[in-house]
This record gives sequence, structure tokens and C-alpha cells, in this order.
Amino acid sequence: MSNEQAPVGIIGGTGLTELSGLVISGEQTFRTPWGIPSGPLVFGHLDGQPVVFLARHGYPHRIPPHQINYRANVWAMHNVGVRTLVGVNAVGGIHPDMGPAHLVVPDQLIDYTWGRHHTFSEGELDEVKHIDFTFPYHERVRRQLSAAARELALSHSGRGVYGATQGPRLETAAEIRRLERDGCDIVGMTGMPEAALAAEMGLDYACLGLVVNWAAGKSEQIITMTDIQAALDEGLSGVKAILQRVVKTLEPPQPQ
Ligand code: HPA
Repeated sequence: MSNEQAPVGIIGGTGLTELSGLVISGEQTFRTPWGIPSGPLVFGHLDGQPVVFLARHGYPHRIPPHQINYRANVWAMHNVGVRTLVGVNAVGGIHPDMGPAHLVVPDQLIDYTWGRHHTFSEGELDEVKHIDFTFPYHERVRRQLSAAARELALSHSGRGVYGATQGPRLETAAEIRRLERDGCDIVGMTGMPEAALAAEMGLDYACLGLVVNWAAGKSEQIITMTDIQAALDEGLSGVKAILQRVVKTLEPPQPQ
């Protein structure tokens, strides 16, 4: 049996369609019981640690948030041996401390999405399972992501509530005020059902959010793709640095 550790899974969001520094050893296109993932799984090593990468929106960026096959993506990751999974998500900032290029490792979420395939519990079941989802993100993985951001002196928050909206349109100012009253600090379109599906699969999952704009009504300006691109350009180097730093510690050593 190989001594190599289980690979860390990384699902890249808007702007993160490939991982620089990843020494690629292969690609595999899957058909899962839930359909086809967003793209091929890319296998390789990041800083010597086995990693499996998947671009959530496909490559090039072509699948809108509500049409992503989250079930196929998570199932494929689990099927190739991933046990620790990091989802990278572009988000809008609601909390005054969470402006463009800030990084957030949320500890809670509220799901406002609808009509998405959000569970593996479907069809002929032996029994209905209700997973515990009190803490939707895995604390060990969250802490390691936050520690890496801190060590790299990046502007970041180690906690926050992620509001998952349907998209693909951005929100109205009133919708953002409602999310704020609900306690959301950041808003994005792809955090759910990915987190819940990862929990159903028993994966240690956490989200690394990159703020790419002030949420609707939180600045004087309307939101433009040019501004979003500028924040992505500024923040993605930090995301990649965190991933590079953290992969080594993310997967717990296998028992001998
Ligand atoms: N709202 C929802 N999703 C997003 C945003 C936003 O403002 N920015 C990036 N993803």
C-alpha cells in the first residue's frame, strides 16, 4: 500500500480556474451517479502534498451558480479519496470590515438558494438520514486556513456568516439589508449546497471566501465586472499563498 497521504480537495470558484504551483500528474473526467462534474478532476502535488483540483464553474468559467452539479462535484472528490475539502468562493462584503480583497473563513451560513439538488438522500433509500449541520464548516480546516492567512499577514476574518443566494443576478439593496438583519457578513452564490453535500459525504469541509465587491447598497457605486476583476486580481495571490501554505497540514497523518 502507498504511504502517500489522502489528497486534499480544492474546488476553485470565480477567478480560480487553475492552481499555479500545482505540479499536474493527470486529469480525469468522471461520470457519477449524479451526473458529470463541472470539469475534469486535476491531480497533482502542491508543495509536495497530493491535491485534487476542480474548477467549480468549469473551464473556462461557463457554468452559472444555479446550474453547477454540486452533487457530482462532491461525489467525485469523495470517490477519488478526498477527505479534506476546501471550497474557494468569491463573495460580496456586507460587514463593514469585509471590503474588496479581504479574505473570510466563515464559521456559519444561511441558505437562501432554491431549486438546487441539495442532498444525496434521494430515490430508493434504506433509511432517511438527518445530518447534523449545527456547525456547517469543519473547525480544524477553518482554523488552519485562518492560521495561514494570519501567518501571511493577509487582511482576513477568521469568522463570519455566509449568506448563500440563488444568483446569477446580484442582490437588491433591500435584499442585502435583509441578509444583514439576519446576521450575514458576506454573500455568495456557490456556498450551498456544496457545504451540506460535503457534510453528507462525511468530508472535512471549509470555505475560503475572497471578497470581490461591496454587496449591493454597501457602497455609493453600482457593482461592475471591472471592479470585481480588479479585486480578484488583488486577492487571488493571497488565496493561492494560503492554499500553498496550508495543504501540508490539512490532511491529518494516516494511522500506521
Ligand atoms: N452577491 C452574491 N454573490 C457574489 C457577490 C455578491 O455581491 N459577489 C461575488 N459573488
